[in-house]
Amino acid sequence: MSEADQPTTAFTPRVFSGIQPSGGLTLGNYLGAMKRFVDWQARDIETIYCMVDMHAITVWQDPAALTRQTRELAAGYLASGLDPARSILFNQSQVPEHAQLAWVFNCVARMGWMQRMTQWKDKAGKNQQNASLGLFAYPSLMAADILVYHATHVPVGEDQKQHIELTRDIAIKFNHDYGVDFFPVTEPVIEGAATRVMSLRDGSKKMSKSDPSDASRINLTDDADTIAQKIRKAKTDPEPLPSEAAGLAERPEARNLVNIFAALSEQGVEQVLAEVGGKPFSEFKPMLADLAVAKLSPISSEMARYMQDPAQIDAILRDGAERARAIAEPILHRTYEIVGMVGARV
Ligand code: TRP
Repeated sequence: MSEADQPTTAFTPRVFSGIQPSGGLTLGNYLGAMKRFVDWQARDIETIYCMVDMHAITVWQDPAALTRQTRELAAGYLASGLDPARSILFNQSQVPEHAQLAWVFNCVARMGWMQRMTQWKDKAGKNQQNASLGLFAYPSLMAADILVYHATHVPVGEDQKQHIELTRDIAIKFNHDYGVDFFPVTEPVIEGAATRVMSLRDGSKKMSKSDPSDASRINLTDDADTIAQKIRKAKTDPEPLPSEAAGLAERPEARNLVNIFAALSEQGVEQVLAEVGGKPFSEFKPMLADLAVAKLSPISSEMARYMQDPAQIDAILRDGAERARAIAEPILHRTYEIVGMVGARV
């Protein structure tokens, strides 16, 4: 794309991210997403977080499980410090402008763009003919999630980079086709490898709720004894900890535990190693277990408290959806007007 094609409009900085309500929150979700989203609140920028229930149903979801997982995810965010007065927290289906803008984008994006998405290829598997049409169009709905707020910053994991690039392509093509400078070309804010939490049983695999071994992960619902025991049993190597980060290069399990310690204690890896370098795991693991319990047990008890009161969660989400709509509605109607639809209110 040439310099001249770049939109020149200045957009108000606004953070948006979407999270799948897929159930089973882990330490990986906490450090990789929840804590980072909460940290954005401290900066002087509007923050909008959406639980993407419409994306979730692109593959089969048991209705009762979807309801529970959506509330659980909301409870997890609130318990992690997401302040519903400062951030907007809501579920996607309650702001119909997402689906409405997605339809316009379905008519802007090309089949070939969707076909190239690695997440589509992975999720559809060998039998693409049998995948849902929604799964194919997933990235177009994701672009609508972002652009219906004119969001400028989107914190996501590395695996979502391709979808953000597609969002940029949709914005550029829309602006170009209609001769406007209306949608921002959104920046991904990719989480660093340092916040990627790996399995406690295999330092080369991501910590995941779907790993068959429960010992591989720390769940946000684990009690203090369980957390301590999982850390005690975490796979390591026989060497003591190195004093510098370079010494972790070929030691994925050691690196993972040090990264977790650094993230939970809000220090750099070098700072942590300055303190624990030379110590054997038999000394480091209890330190990590104490830290993890201290940080996570208030979250899990607060989460349990919210889950006792689903009406409170639902009220927070309703309020979030209303505030989200107040932003999304004028942007959708301006889009309709640009497209030439009669009756668009602006
Ligand atoms: N696809 C994202 C994921 O699986 C979730 C998502 C949906 C999202 N809409 C979004 C992320 C908009 C960022 C912005 O993680």
